[in-house]
Amino acid sequence: MRVMVVGGGGREHAIIKKIKENKSVSEIFALPGNGGIAQDATCVNIGAKDIDAIVKFAVENAIDFAVVAPDDPLVLGCVDALNEKGIKTFGPNKAAAIIEGSKVFSKNLMKKYGIPTAQYEVFTDMDAALSYLETAPIPTVVKADGLALGKGVIIATTREEAKDAVKSMMEDKVFGESGSSVVIEEFLTGPEVSVLSFTDGKTLIPMVSSMDHKRALDNDMGLNTGGMGTIAPNPYYTEEIAKECMEKIFIPTVNAMNSEGRSFSGCLYFGLMLTPNGPKVIEYNCRFGDPETQVVLPLLESDLLDIMLHISDKTLDKADVRFSDGSACCVVMASNGYPGKYETGFEITMPADKNIYVAGAKLDGEKLLTGGGRVLGVTETAPTLKEAIDKAYETVKEVNFANAFYRKDIGAKALKAIN
Ligand code: AMP
Ligand code: GLY
Repeated sequence: MRVMVVGGGGREHAIIKKIKENKSVSEIFALPGNGGIAQDATCVNIGAKDIDAIVKFAVENAIDFAVVAPDDPLVLGCVDALNEKGIKTFGPNKAAAIIEGSKVFSKNLMKKYGIPTAQYEVFTDMDAALSYLETAPIPTVVKADGLALGKGVIIATTREEAKDAVKSMMEDKVFGESGSSVVIEEFLTGPEVSVLSFTDGKTLIPMVSSMDHKRALDNDMGLNTGGMGTIAPNPYYTEEIAKECMEKIFIPTVNAMNSEGRSFSGCLYFGLMLTPNGPKVIEYNCRFGDPETQVVLPLLESDLLDIMLHISDKTLDKADVRFSDGSACCVVMASNGYPGKYETGFEITMPADKNIYVAGAKLDGEKLLTGGGRVLGVTETAPTLKEAIDKAYETVKEVNFANAFYRKDIGAKALKAIN
C-alpha cells in the first residue's frame, strides 16, 4: 500500500513511524516532511497548504491512502479534494473541520446541544466588544474566531489587557481575518486534559488521555508555545471522569455534528478543563494534537493504519483499538529563544534506535541540522509514569545540538497528582 502523510512536524513523524509498523505499507511519503522524517519516509517538497499540488501528487503517484494531519489543510478542504479524486483519506472534510476552524461555530454548537463549556459572548463589532468589557468579570478570555497558529487566545487579568487583545485582533488584525469575530468567555480553572479520539461519525473511541505543557519554562512560566512536552495517561482523568466525558461531551459532540450535517470522521481532539463544576470543553481540534500524539501513539498496541482504514470505511466498530496500561513521557527539545527569535542550522546528533520525533530539522548532505523552534521530541514508555519520565530525561542526554533548551519538569505536576 502506498501511503501519503500531509504535514511535517513531530506529530507527523510519530504518525509515520506507527503507520510503518503495518506490513502492507510499501512506500510512505511525507508532504513536506522534514530532515528527520526523511529517515522514515520519502519527503516531497510540497507545502501542507498547497491543496492543488497535494492532490496532483497523490494522483500521479498512485497513493492508496492519505492522512491529512495539520489543521490548515483540513480547514481548507484537503480531504474533500482528495476524495473527489477517489483517494481514501483519514481526516474530517471541510464541513466538519470547522469545529476547530471557527471558535464561534464550536461555541454555538456546544450551546445549542448543551455540551458543557465556558459561558461566552460573540462579537463582530469592536465597539460592542469594548463596551461589554467595561463590566465583564475579570479575568476573562479573548479568542480570535479562526486559526491563529495557536496564538489566538489571550487570558486577560485586567480590563485594559482584555481591551488591548480585542483591539489587536479586530482593529490591528494581527491574526488577519481570523480576528474579524472574537469570542469573549468566562475564565475557568482546573486541571487540563487532552483527549484525542478516533471517530467515524458513528462510533467514538477515546485514546489514552494526556497532559500538555504549553508554557516555555519550568513551573508553567514564560510564553505559551505549541507544547514543550506531554505525558500520558493524565492522572487527573479518572475512570469516573472519563465516563462522564463520554456521556456529556464526546457522544453529544459526534451526534451534534451529525445533526448539523457535518459528520466528523478522523481524530477529534477534546481540550478539557476539569472545573469544580465538572469537565468542560476548552477547545476542539479537528486533528491529532502536537505533542500529545508523541505520547499517545507509542502507547497504542494495535495497528494505526488498520484503524484509520476502518474509519474511512465507517467501520470503526469493527476495528481493534487497544492501548497499553503503561505510561509515556515526551520531552520537547527546542532552539534557545523559542517561541521568540532563535537561530537554526546547528548539527543534531542522536541515537538512532529511540522514539525521537523530529519536528524542525533539515538535511545538509548526511548531516541533520536544526531548522525550527521545536526541534524534536524524545519519548520513552515504561510501566509507570515516574519510570517513563526518568527514561525520557536519560535519553535527552544522548541528544546533542547547540543552543538546545528544554523543560526539566515535564510530568512533575502529574507525578504530584498521583502521590
Ligand atoms: P486554546 O488555544 O483554545 O487551546 O487555549 C490555549 C490555552 O488557554 C488553553 O490550553 C487553556 O490553558 C487556556 N484557556 C483557554 N480558554 C480558557 C478559559 N475559558 N479559561 C481558562 N483558561 C483558558
Ligand atoms: N498541543 C495542543 C495542540 O495540538 O493543539
